[in-house]
Amino acid sequence: MKVPYCRIVCDGNELVYVREVLESGWLTTGAKAIELERRFAAAVGAEHAIAVNSCTSALHLALEAAGVKAGDRVFVPTMTFTASAEVVRYLGADPIFLDIEYGTCLLTPEIVEAAVRRHPDVKTLVVVHFGGQAAAMETAGGRPGILEICRRHGVRVVEDAAHAFPARSAGRMIGGLGDAACFSFYANKTITTGEGGMLTTNDAALAARARTMRLHGIDRTVWDRYTSTKPGWEYDVVAPGFKYNMPDVNAALGLAQLERAAAFQEGRLRCARRYLDALAGVPHLDLPVCREPAEDQAWHLFPVVIRPGAPVDRNRCVEKLAEQGIGTSVHYRPLHRMSYYRQTYHLSPDDFPQAERVWNGCLSLPIFPTMTDDEIDYVCAALAGILEGKV
Ligand SMILES: Cc1ncc(COP(=O)(O)O)c(C=O)c1O
Repeated sequence: MKVPYCRIVCDGNELVYVREVLESGWLTTGAKAIELERRFAAAVGAEHAIAVNSCTSALHLALEAAGVKAGDRVFVPTMTFTASAEVVRYLGADPIFLDIEYGTCLLTPEIVEAAVRRHPDVKTLVVVHFGGQAAAMETAGGRPGILEICRRHGVRVVEDAAHAFPARSAGRMIGGLGDAACFSFYANKTITTGEGGMLTTNDAALAARARTMRLHGIDRTVWDRYTSTKPGWEYDVVAPGFKYNMPDVNAALGLAQLERAAAFQEGRLRCARRYLDALAGVPHLDLPVCREPAEDQAWHLFPVVIRPGAPVDRNRCVEKLAEQGIGTSVHYRPLHRMSYYRQTYHLSPDDFPQAERVWNGCLSLPIFPTMTDDEIDYVCAALAGILEGKV
């Protein structure tokens, strides 16, 4: 059997909606992107949604609109993709890397509270909803959540929700909680536009700034210039903005994918539940810890950690799984181990003990909506065989 790491599903209205765009004669940002924004905002319960060409663009726009500028410092977890931190550098600001909690790979309220007390000058946090599980944003059971702690200390919260559609924190959808949330529609994400992303927020001023900066800092959108009675050439440039708009061809894919989002999430949840059951007794293996109910997670990833002392290390395990036709990935080599961040900020692994524990043994198993029970069982049997020293 061969089980790929990921299999992309485009079997809904993708072709129908893309054809509509091609036949309309309007390929760049227009009616489809506006419709996707409207529907996505409703899906996550946010007042504003701004369609862009990647989550990286959304993060850049969100931080810019939140007022991050050269010389500022911004909290970022070390256990994430480089995009979460590189956007801080785009603005001439510097990331302060934070360790994460073992088991969830998330920032916790305690980690955030310690960080804001230690660095009272830092006024922005990027929080990553790792693998599709929300960090503890909400205050629950008398334990203050990340939002409350940040509010108390005047820290703005930008959510890197690249993995987290659809996901909930204490029952509330990710997308309308922090100052802004940034989603990815990259090819292997929970819904895709090929490349694309979405910024959501309840802050009208932040939304207005991000909309303007999304398209060169021009005070009118392309669509408005096309449809309005005011001449299209009549516009002003109010800031040196970026070119981050989502074309309608991509938005058409997004509309079809959004229609299937609940079914996709159900498919991923089925995989996660089967993995959690089947792998529960496997030696030398730590499974992802569910802080939120399984059904409130997007399950973009199914990350496991091989403990020290196992018959094989992570790299050998990845090789042995590949020999049995199973694709895997690694999330992540933490940013404090990437040469640019390590050298620029003189970072040491000793300062990130939990991320190091994860990094030394982590691999991500295949998880996608159309994965069959047989495929999941095959992966589980292969992994168990390797960790029991039989293969
Ligand atoms: C945590 C995280 N943030 C941001 C991104 C960037 O997303 P995009 O490729 O849409 O820019 C990714 C992409 O994989 C990611 O995993």
